[in-house]
Amino acid sequence: MPSKILVTGGLGYIGSHTCVELIQQGFEIIIVDDLSNSSKNVLDGIKKITGISPKFVKLDLRDRKEVNLLFQYHPDLTGIIHFAAYKAVGESVKQPLEYYENNISSLIYLLQAIESKGQRCSFIFSSSCTVYGQADQLPITEQDPVKKAESPYGNTKQIGEEILYDNTRSNDLLKVISLRYFNPIGAHSSIEIGELSKGKPQNLVPFITQTAAGIHQKINVFGGDYPTDDGTCVRDYIHVVDLAKAHVVGLKRMIADEQSENFEVFNLGTGKGNSVLEVIKTFEKISGISLNHEIVDRRSGDIVEAYADTSKANEILGWQAINNLEMALKTAWEWEKKIRNK
Ligand code: NAD
Ligand code: WQD
Repeated sequence: MPSKILVTGGLGYIGSHTCVELIQQGFEIIIVDDLSNSSKNVLDGIKKITGISPKFVKLDLRDRKEVNLLFQYHPDLTGIIHFAAYKAVGESVKQPLEYYENNISSLIYLLQAIESKGQRCSFIFSSSCTVYGQADQLPITEQDPVKKAESPYGNTKQIGEEILYDNTRSNDLLKVISLRYFNPIGAHSSIEIGELSKGKPQNLVPFITQTAAGIHQKINVFGGDYPTDDGTCVRDYIHVVDLAKAHVVGLKRMIADEQSENFEVFNLGTGKGNSVLEVIKTFEKISGISLNHEIVDRRSGDIVEAYADTSKANEILGWQAINNLEMALKTAWEWEKKIRNK
C-alpha cells in the first residue's frame, strides 16, 4: 500500500510542484485547498504531467470541524505537507489579523486533529529564510539566530516553527521537518504548472516575466546603493522543482524513522547569491528581450543579502539543487508566455 499524504495548499505554486514529485515517487495524495490563491485547473496540469488525477477536497483549514471530518474520513494518513498559508509580506503588514488567523489557526487545527488520532504522523512545514532577517554572516546556516520578524507574515513562520517544536516535545508520535525556503522561482519543465500571481506581483521574477510580456512598462529596481558588488540586493533563487523534490526526501526520512531529533530544520537554497541586476541580465540573455528597468528608492524592510549554506540538507538529506538560474528563468518565461497565450 502506498503511503497516503495530505497536501494542504496543494494547488498553490510550490504545493502543485510537490504533488507532481510525490505522485511520481508512488505516494497517494489528497490535496486540500480553499482556492483562495489558486485554481482548480491546476489539477489538470498535475494530471497531464503524472497521468494521475489526485483526490481534491475544497476546504478552508480555518474550519476546525471540517478539518476533523477530513481526518475521520482519512484515518490512514501517514504524513502531511502543510503549504496552505497566506504569503504576501506587504499585505500582512496591512492585515495582520488575517495572517495570524489563517497561518496559525490552520496549523493548530491540523495538529489537534493529528493528536486526537493518536497515531504516528510525519509533518513537513513550509518555513522561510525570512526567519533569519538580515543574518550576521553569509552564507546562512540553520544555526544562525532567528531574528525579530520584520512582518506579521514572517512572524507566522517563526511562531509556526515554535508551535511545531513544542508539539514534538509533548507528542512523541509527531515527527516534523521544517524547510526554510530561500527564493523559489520558475515552473515545471513541462510548462503545465507554474506560479499564478493574483494582482500585481510583489516578487522579482513574476514582475520580470510580466514586464517582458508587456503587462508592465518597466521594472523598478529597489535600491542601487547597497553594499553589494553592483549595489543591488542579493538573493538565493532556487528552481521550484528542486525545492519540491526536497519535500519528498524529507518525508521519506521521517517515514523511515531516520531523524536524529523529532523536530529538524533545513535550509533549501542553491547556496549561490545573485543580485537583482544579475537576474535581469540573465533573463535578457535567455529570452532575447531587453527589459526596461530603472533604479529607484530602496523598498522598506528589504534585507541586503541572503543566501543559504545548504551543507546540512546536502549531507543529511542527500539533496541538492541541480537547476541553475538560467534554467529556472527559462521555465518562468515559458510559463508566462503560455498563460498569456503568446
Ligand atoms: P501559494 O499561495 O501559491 O499556495 C498556498 C495555497 O494555500 C494556495 O493554493 C491557497 O489557495 C491555499 N490556502 C491558503 N489558505 C488556506 C486555507 N485556510 N485553507 C486551505 N487552503 C488555503 O503559495 P506558495 O508560494 O506555494 O507557498 C507555499 C508555502 O510556502 C506557504 O506556506 C508560504 O508561506 C511558504 N513560502 C513561500 C515562499 C515563496 O516565495 N513562494 C517562500 C518561503 C515560504
Ligand atoms: C527579491 C529582490 C527586491 C521586485 C520575499 C518574501 C520572503 C520570502 C521570499 C516567503 C529584492 C527586488 C523585487 C521588484 C525589485 N517569501 N525587487 N523590484 O524580498 O527576497 O522575499 O520572498 O516566505 O518572506 O519577503 O523576494 O522577490 O520580493 O525580491 O527590485 O519589482 O528583488 O528589492 O531585493 P524577497 P522578492
